[in-house]
Amino acid sequence: MPKQCNLKQPGHTNQCVALKTMKIIETQHIAKIYRMGTNEVRALQDISIVINKGEYVAFMGPSGSGKSTLMNIIGCLDTPTSGTYILNNHEVSEMTENELAEVRNKEIGFVFQTFNLLPRATALENVALPLIYAGYSRSEREDRAMEVLESVGLADRWHHKPNELSGGQRQRVAIARALVNNPSIILADEPTGNLDSKTSYDIMNLFQELHDRGNTIIMVTHEDDIAHYAHRIIRLRDGLIEWDRKNDHVTRGKSVTA
Ligand SMILES: Nc1ncnc2c1ncn2[C@@H]1O[C@H](COP(=O)(O)OP(=O)(O)O)[C@@H](O)[C@H]1O
Ligand SMILES: [Mg+2]
Repeated sequence: MPKQCNLKQPGHTNQCVALKTMKIIETQHIAKIYRMGTNEVRALQDISIVINKGEYVAFMGPSGSGKSTLMNIIGCLDTPTSGTYILNNHEVSEMTENELAEVRNKEIGFVFQTFNLLPRATALENVALPLIYAGYSRSEREDRAMEVLESVGLADRWHHKPNELSGGQRQRVAIARALVNNPSIILADEPTGNLDSKTSYDIMNLFQELHDRGNTIIMVTHEDDIAHYAHRIIRLRDGLIEWDRKNDHVTRGKSVTA
């Protein structure tokens, strides 16, 4: 794993160096303009960032600064007005609809502030949903969904519907759904925005475990203490990058599922 490579140690390899700097996300001068009648909103003006495999990044910034717009572009849910987005060495604007659908389903796990679960489906059914498009049989889907529910500490709640679960449990179901296809990139837009502090820290501990397992994590938050779980913090303002810094004081919580 890239973060375990230590160039000062004997025994590191060239492969280790390559992994250490493997780009997974690159935006080049991305802009997004929304036009409504004669009105023009420049949600993103000029965003150039590189994120390497295995990084844990937080986007911060005031409301309206373009955080969600940028996340949606990174998650291939939306396209920029201008500029280039390169995901895993592929220029996204050149992908076919099928390739894009595949990327959205298999490479990226999206977690939303409002959970976005199906209200009439059980936790297990919600988590298994993305597997339908991947062509697994029902029993394979249920086995896999159960395994992921277990990994977020919710195996005993598999038959509960969203309204029978607490906010934190709902978000864990949503995270399990995001993880079910084993994506390497997890994108989370204000994942703790609707949760109390204690529950928020539980969710952050879960993200920390996902990061420890080698996933690339990008989250949006406007809360300082949540952002400090990330290893790099990028602050947006008016659709531009105000600053981009390494976090020298990473918060580490205790394991939730161990
Ligand atoms: N679909 C849309 N149509 C028009 N304007 C939008 C749309 N989505 C976002 N915006 C505008 O773009 C700007 C950035 O929004 P957003 O990315 O949601 O910011 P943030 O997530 O940082 O609060 C805001 O001014 C917002 O009103
Ligand atoms: Mg937003």
